[in-house]
Amino acid sequence: RDRNGLIVAIDGPSGAGKSTITRQLASILSYIYIDTGAMYRALALAVSRAGVSADADQQVLEICRQSELAFVRENGVSRITLNGEDVADLIRSPEISLLTSRIACKKAVRELLLVKQREMGKGGGVILEGRDIGTVVFPDADVKFFLSASAEERGRRRYLELKAKGEAVDLDQTVAEVIARDLQDENRDHAPLRQAEDAIAVDSTSLSIGEVVDGMVQVIEDRLMIA
Ligand code: DC
Repeated sequence: RDRNGLIVAIDGPSGAGKSTITRQLASILSYIYIDTGAMYRALALAVSRAGVSADADQQVLEICRQSELAFVRENGVSRITLNGEDVADLIRSPEISLLTSRIACKKAVRELLLVKQREMGKGGGVILEGRDIGTVVFPDADVKFFLSASAEERGRRRYLELKAKGEAVDLDQTVAEVIARDLQDENRDHAPLRQAEDAIAVDSTSLSIGEVVDGMVQVIEDRLMIA
């Protein structure tokens, strides 16, 4: 693969800085950015709007099947749409975050998105961000990163993010939610969060966004040199 055609996978728990870092990396490399978490979140929003319980497997799956997901670019930023409606902001609430985790553990839901994600990424020149990109979606990705940070630091970052948006949040509660979500993501039966054997581990606890991005660009450049 040439410089324009790599498939880059970035996995890791919530709050490790994946979204910000992936966005910057995609911009530097002129790659397409696919936020797979946003896809699961948009499906959760659809389920929530339909007033269906997350436990109702059949109904949940039906809603997911009928949900049309796409990414549109607006001012250079990629935003997710659900049946044509921009839901990029709506999917970020704490309620949707928790519901997403319950939807994302369903095998049939994951299979639906797996097909879609492979379709979106197969041409290369893409960075996919999620939990199971390097392990399940693109096990043959050209470069894989596993980005993490301590739970306290990730909770603190999420808290500051929500607070900046004007949401009434509590730090301890946000940290507790991060830990609860990690547990759900790591212990589910289907595509649990784990580091691929050939992924490069990056701990961002005490690194700035810029330091992480620079390091990743270096790794990708090196990979292109030996390819
Ligand atoms: O990265 P995020 O916080 O937007 O992810 C939202 C939820 O979706 C989170 O509970 C993990 C889940 N998810 C997943 O199971 N697989 C992915 N590839 C991406 C996200």
